[in-house]
Amino acid sequence: MTGFCGSPRRKGNTDILMQTVLDEASEKGFDTEMVYLSDAHVGFCKACDACHLPNGKCIIDDDMESLVQNMKESDVWVFGTPVYWWGPTAQMKVFVDRWYGFYSDNLFKNKKAILVVPMEDTDEKTASHVVGMFQDSFDYVGVELSDVIVADGVRNRGDVKERPELIQKAKDSVSKVVVSKKAKTAKK
Ligand SMILES: Cc1cc2nc3c(=O)[nH]c(=O)nc-3n(C[C@H](O)[C@H](O)[C@H](O)COP(=O)(O)O)c2cc1C
Repeated sequence: MTGFCGSPRRKGNTDILMQTVLDEASEKGFDTEMVYLSDAHVGFCKACDACHLPNGKCIIDDDMESLVQNMKESDVWVFGTPVYWWGPTAQMKVFVDRWYGFYSDNLFKNKKAILVVPMEDTDEKTASHVVGMFQDSFDYVGVELSDVIVADGVRNRGDVKERPELIQKAKDSVSKVVVSKKAKTAKK
């Protein structure tokens, strides 16, 4: 299970909740890893379409190749971004845009994802664009969104630690992945 953290704030609410998911997963036997997108060099998609030529590949030489490797190596992805102006952070959006180069690859098939979205607002609607962006993109590329944790009413670094129900939700998300994995295996 790999976490892709889109918050620039270390030990912030996104980081803490994602780490909670990964720690719980580790206890349940998953290998886990966290990637901080703020530490990675990921350039903007230039829409040059070189990636869509026969045998084409992205012309940008940056950390995306190693991030794709991280994606390939795990069955479950945890994406975390706080709400920034009703959307995801720029770090997360730039990363997602670059999937344009390989969204039709098998890379996305049979993967599962957990989404973590902290925000200051207490109106769940404020997270709707972020959740909708991921849900629709995942539907398009074939990823199953197993759980969404919207952590509302958290503003300052670490506020989420005072919210045991959100920490519990993060822990519970791991069982949801396990259950949906088992259900799929049973159907085969
Ligand atoms: C640039 C910026 C834009 C933000 N925009 C929103 C917003 O539109 N709605 C909201 O509820 N919170 C907004 N927030 C608050 C963050 O979502 C909130 O502080 C969150 O807990 C930060 O998560 P972190 O601790 O992982 O950085 C914004 C914060 C920043 C820095």
